[in-house]
Amino acid sequence: MIWWPVLLELGKRGIDHLPAVWRYGVCAYIESRWATAEQRWWRQKAQEFYDGLGRPATVLSGPFQGMPYINRSSGSAFLPKILGTYEMELRPAVEAICAAQPDLLVDIGAAEGYYAVGLARRLPRLRVRAYEIYPPARLMLQELIRLNRVGPRVRLGRWCTPRRLECALSEAQRPVVICDCEGAEDDLILPTQTPSLARAHLLVELHEAAAPGIGARLKERLAPTHRITEYPARSRTVADAPPGLVVEPGQVRLVLSERGHPAVAQSWYFCQPLESAARPSQEPMAVGEAGRLGRGRRA
Ligand SMILES: C[S@@+](CC[C@H](N)C(=O)[O-])C[C@H]1O[C@@H](n2cnc3c(N)ncnc32)[C@H](O)[C@@H]1O
Repeated sequence: MIWWPVLLELGKRGIDHLPAVWRYGVCAYIESRWATAEQRWWRQKAQEFYDGLGRPATVLSGPFQGMPYINRSSGSAFLPKILGTYEMELRPAVEAICAAQPDLLVDIGAAEGYYAVGLARRLPRLRVRAYEIYPPARLMLQELIRLNRVGPRVRLGRWCTPRRLECALSEAQRPVVICDCEGAEDDLILPTQTPSLARAHLLVELHEAAAPGIGARLKERLAPTHRITEYPARSRTVADAPPGLVVEPGQVRLVLSERGHPAVAQSWYFCQPLESAARPSQEPMAVGEAGRLGRGRRA
């Protein structure tokens, strides 16, 4: 008897080998089947708003302003991405990462590539290793890579494991890891198995619901090697809209926040290796000196 996760994994791998037309069809089918009625409703509303804006083809604000983008997203709401309000709490961390001039980004749970491709665009010498297990997301990621012509510098992978992570990081001098993988951070951010994490900047989304106590555990694991700043998610307001876009108070939830999608982060850890945190020239931006930047939930 074949164990069903094995069957599922074989199926996912098989999708990558289908001719493009079939691959798009199968992925669209999976996407539509796996969405709840509520998610479909939010998607529909978001689509109407996007159409009303004239379907912008590039990100309108934020650290990746100007990046040509696809017209959908995976694992997160689309509108905040195209408008540039997506995870805007993390802007100081993204700028600090850029200022550190990393030579390698390992993006675990890359989805359609907002960070993987966005950072590859901002840092022309950056190499990227993007791990993503969900076939429809990988398909979108390939599209975004093509659209931004960063293909030669971005390599795709499926499952990330501590061994693969160590293998990638050990060859880099100034690596950065962005990790947003629905609780798998507990199994991946393990300095005992991945010693090269000690040299890396880490931006980790904490999924307490999937891995209860993960915040405390990561603090314990990383405190000896990193300075940790916590960025809690905060509610969006009309003032967060990109310049020139008028958003009514009743639209904030749909347009600027992650509502309508279940994977809503409550906080992130930005971890700077102590070695580089001691060098002010690499960190021109102060990123949350007090550690926590005010609590709040999204609208
Ligand atoms: C919330 S989404 C990521 C969103 C993405 N960081 C962004 O900002 O656009 C989480 C993704 O992690 C992927 N994932 C979960 N565990 C993983 C693992 N061990 N290796 C690679 N990808 C993983 C899922 O398939 C999912 O697409």
